[in-house]
Amino acid sequence: MPVQQIGTQSPLQRSRLIYGCMRIAGDGSQNAQRHGMLALESAWDAGFHLFDHADIYSSGACERLFGEFLRTHDIPRKEVVITSKCGIRLPQNEQPGLYDSSSSHILNTVESSLRNLRIDYLDCLLIHRPDYLMDPKTIASAFKALADAGKVRQFGVSNFTPDQIELLQAALPFPLAAHQVEFNLDHMNPLDDGVLTQAMRHGMILQSWCPLGGVAYPAWHSNISEDARERLDREVKRQATQYGCEPTQISLAWLLHHPARIQPIIGSTNPERIQQSVQALTIPYTREDWYRILTARKGPLP
Ligand SMILES: NC(=O)c1ccc[n+]([C@@H]2O[C@H](COP(=O)([O-])OP(=O)(O)OC[C@H]3O[C@@H](n4cnc5c(N)ncnc54)[C@H](OP(=O)(O)O)[C@@H]3O)[C@@H](O)[C@H]2O)c1
Repeated sequence: MPVQQIGTQSPLQRSRLIYGCMRIAGDGSQNAQRHGMLALESAWDAGFHLFDHADIYSSGACERLFGEFLRTHDIPRKEVVITSKCGIRLPQNEQPGLYDSSSSHILNTVESSLRNLRIDYLDCLLIHRPDYLMDPKTIASAFKALADAGKVRQFGVSNFTPDQIELLQAALPFPLAAHQVEFNLDHMNPLDDGVLTQAMRHGMILQSWCPLGGVAYPAWHSNISEDARERLDREVKRQATQYGCEPTQISLAWLLHHPARIQPIIGSTNPERIQQSVQALTIPYTREDWYRILTARKGPLP
């Protein structure tokens, strides 16, 4: 199966929101898995059809639960768009965690993800984090083998710098389709570090992980000052009151308003919050709202 070119035909662009499956298996207990299955049912009922995975989420249990979800609900493969990731090896015995973009690791991980998910191709495969020992030609040949075998349709990266993307892209015979980074009201770095402009220039879809960081919980990469935190909280609450919605919906409306058509990845496992995230799409958010949040976070503009 040929690698699909990016553009309007890309199945990755069929939706503005992605459902993130990192938390669906919880601690792996039966209760947690029941809760996760309910979350998947809620996401499906709310209209999600793009799903984000990684081989390491609950050590494969999230992918397995999703495979079970597809099977028990008889969901046709073509109705869902599935991304998974590879490239992180978790600590094991005496071996500390490490990044691995070797050909064998990429190929073996995809085989295992396909088995876990009970599908025969991934719509998209991302390299989860940039490997310090990355050899772009090795990744390119593994990607090409997976594309030629019809096992992966599109490829992308996560948490890369623009330079690392240029390096990898130069070795690939097809364009990278997606870049997944932390992007939220606290961690706005993609606006200024070249990640967002690069995605727009190359037509890569920018996906935001932890989109509620700084509102529902502290961002992973937070360096926010106390003053900025207070200003941001105040402004988010003011906008939530203005629109009669939840503060978390303002986080999503802010990301969705950008012309780059950023795709927030929704990670809640709570049915009500999953539904609320979809309602964020209907907030008539304005340029003025967007800049009020920006200046609350960063201070007045020059
Ligand atoms: N590429 C990467 O490196 C990377 C890294 C991290 C994540 N991801 C992807 O991004 C997805 C989303 O990440 P995420 O799960 O952190 O996203 P998120 O949607 O920003 O956060 C979800 C978490 O916030 C909690 N939450 C939501 N609303 C809340 C509220 N009003 N008050 C308190 N807690 C609230 C949720 O709890 P409830 O479940 O109880 O609602 C859940 O624990 C993941 O599933 C994964 O697919 C990718």
